[in-house]
Amino acid sequence: MKDILTMESFNNEQVMEMINRALEFKNGARANFEDKKVMNLFFEDSTRTKTSFQAAEANFKMERLNFDASTSSINKGETLYDTVKTIQSIGVDLVVIRHKQDEYYNEIKDIDIHILNAGDGKGQHPSQSFLDLMTIYEKFGTFEDLNIAIVGDLKHSRVAHSNSSVLKKLGANLFYGGPKEWYTEEFEKFGPLKQIDDLVENMDVIMLLRVQNERLDSEDKNVVSTENYLNKYGLTLKRANEMKKDAIIMHPAPVNRGVEIADEVVEHEKSVIFKQMTNGVFARMAMIEKVLKGDK
Ligand code: CP
Repeated sequence: MKDILTMESFNNEQVMEMINRALEFKNGARANFEDKKVMNLFFEDSTRTKTSFQAAEANFKMERLNFDASTSSINKGETLYDTVKTIQSIGVDLVVIRHKQDEYYNEIKDIDIHILNAGDGKGQHPSQSFLDLMTIYEKFGTFEDLNIAIVGDLKHSRVAHSNSSVLKKLGANLFYGGPKEWYTEEFEKFGPLKQIDDLVENMDVIMLLRVQNERLDSEDKNVVSTENYLNKYGLTLKRANEMKKDAIIMHPAPVNRGVEIADEVVEHEKSVIFKQMTNGVFARMAMIEKVLKGDK
């Protein structure tokens, strides 16, 4: 596999291979890519994804070359294609890219360099999806017939877009929560929209989504500002306590405390939010290995 751009390029067997490999890395498996050069191109802000890719690259002893979008020649009008072609010409083997443009990768996928998509606009976020799948599988050992609710800002969320189809293919029962204005057509084929109070008692997993303030237009802002979002759509402490004993609370983070999730729920006993971040390093190691091992 040359690149990882969307979750659609994986069948169930390949998804399970990735999860199991990530778990092997978590349990101490090692690999070495010290002969490979990598650059992380983040044109949008990131804490978790960027840092955990850096940690994954360090675990493989890869040579990481610095790239700072704010001082790059992109600011002089250089295209993404010319930027990545330049990086490939300099001898870099792998680029990890986050970009605000949906499907930015269509411009560059013919360049002879490995690409890992670290998030494209409202499109996909495969590394988040793999760490989410790993975290669910680690807890339940299966996806078959798990009740999973994805709740919140569905419309602007690359996490919802990446996770919906793969979870459905793996056999989970999907449900959605949040404002009806954000339950767009594409989600209807995967599962129904429900009120949060009708979800909490029956779900094995509640996956909350951040309200993506930076992507909201004026209509979207009305949805958030005219209503008490936490009480109407979010996970309050009372709702978290009503969830099944073994259920888990997920959130890709960063979290808007007091908006989609109550402050005290972030580290609730059912929350696996920080475990997701830990697993992110190992899921990203599995992705890097997947594209690079064919080169050996
Ligand atoms: N979950 C996630 O993508 O976080 P960052 O934006 O901090 O990378």
